[in-house]
Amino acid sequence: MSKDPWETDFDHHSAEYAADPWATNISMNTHAPVSYSRRHGGFWLMAGFDEVSQVAHQPELFSSAHELPNTPGRPQGTVVPASTFRGLPLEIDPPEFTEWRRALNSFFSPPAARRLRPRIQQYASWCVDKYIETGEIDLVLDLSNPVPALITLELVGLPMEDWRVFADVLHALVYTLPGTPEFDRVEADFARLIETVRALVPQRRAHPQDDFVSFLTQLEIGGKKLDDEDVVAVCNAVIPGGVDTTTALLASTLDYLDRNREARKRLIESPELIPDVCDEFLRYFTPVMGAGRTAMADASVGGCPIRKGDRVLLSWAAANLDAKVFPNPELIDLDRDAGKQAAFGIGIHRCIGRHIARMDFEVVIGEVLARMPDYQIVEGAAEKYPTVGQIHGYMQMPVRFTPGARIGSQPSSPPLPAALSH
Ligand code: HEM
Repeated sequence: MSKDPWETDFDHHSAEYAADPWATNISMNTHAPVSYSRRHGGFWLMAGFDEVSQVAHQPELFSSAHELPNTPGRPQGTVVPASTFRGLPLEIDPPEFTEWRRALNSFFSPPAARRLRPRIQQYASWCVDKYIETGEIDLVLDLSNPVPALITLELVGLPMEDWRVFADVLHALVYTLPGTPEFDRVEADFARLIETVRALVPQRRAHPQDDFVSFLTQLEIGGKKLDDEDVVAVCNAVIPGGVDTTTALLASTLDYLDRNREARKRLIESPELIPDVCDEFLRYFTPVMGAGRTAMADASVGGCPIRKGDRVLLSWAAANLDAKVFPNPELIDLDRDAGKQAAFGIGIHRCIGRHIARMDFEVVIGEVLARMPDYQIVEGAAEKYPTVGQIHGYMQMPVRFTPGARIGSQPSSPPLPAALSH
């Protein structure tokens, strides 16, 4: 079969891409800002910042909608290859989307994220306390995965005694290769987690509490209360969206600070810089590699002929390495103004949880640098995900450090959930 000029072999789930996504991404946005890959059922890949932005700003032409069961030619949502779950409001389009997003924004506003800060701090300190006297911790499994998992599960209203099981499933869901028996098993585990949410909905509808599921059961969209399936579909986006994305950002940053002692020293001496450097780490590491769309009509981007029904993958990771927008994109520059970075997406679906993610970053990176300032990754022991096609992160990261003292719970803090008190 002869190849079209825009055709590539790009596969975001390949081992080659996982080994060095930066080299591939920089090469693509330099030489092929738009290309076509036959992998995973075929998709157009947008790599240049302008091309990604152009598609992301046309939701009426490039839909995020997800009709199940997945059928070629029909809208298949925001994951390539399409997932078997539908997430809301991620996988709906305007005009319906606009009311959804407006209604949900209040729960995820900057003040709401600031109110979570003491709780995030409490969880971070609780995690570190468990290991601080031993001089050994796994920065992924014992800290960067648990903190966002604990805060997300509590926010949603899920039972906290199961947090470890939930955290492990959310971790495995993003690094297991689609199309493998292992992936089917992990998806089934995730489906069981979602069943827990489904069981919670009628309880919270009858007896609302101060959590996200209760908030959703009280919400009216289009003059109607959300039905149970809609509540579950929102949790389908918020629960995985809230956990391993943040885990990946934290782990990548901590790995970088292990290898770059000057940068670490600077942040230890000036911890007030930690929130400011978050955008540059987001830009360079881009935890969520990209997002899918479905073309709703024939279109042309970068001179390439996109047909109605074609799948499109927007590479936030490649856009973030576009030298036209970020000079010397292959370098991490803590003084760069990276505010334009695309790691939280571009356009109407821009991450609703980003203020919480930034708060997790500020607290967890601050906690590590304050309490384990000399941490060192055990040589050769940090393990990356075998696929970074969905999330670019680490499976584990064991480190050693000079032991310190526990700080325990502060008298002014609210009590931790009972499930964490032993
Ligand atoms: C570093 C951490 C995070 C990253 C890199 C990230 C990345 C993203 C990206 C790229 C999108 C846009 C997807 C698209 O356009 O198709 C998105 C949307 C979303 N994210 Fe995040 N996210 C993070 C943290 C969170 C957190 C903490 C939560 C919730 C607690 C969350 C919940 C969501 C939801 C619900 C959406 C859909 C928003 C909409 O459709 O309006 N994310 N995120």
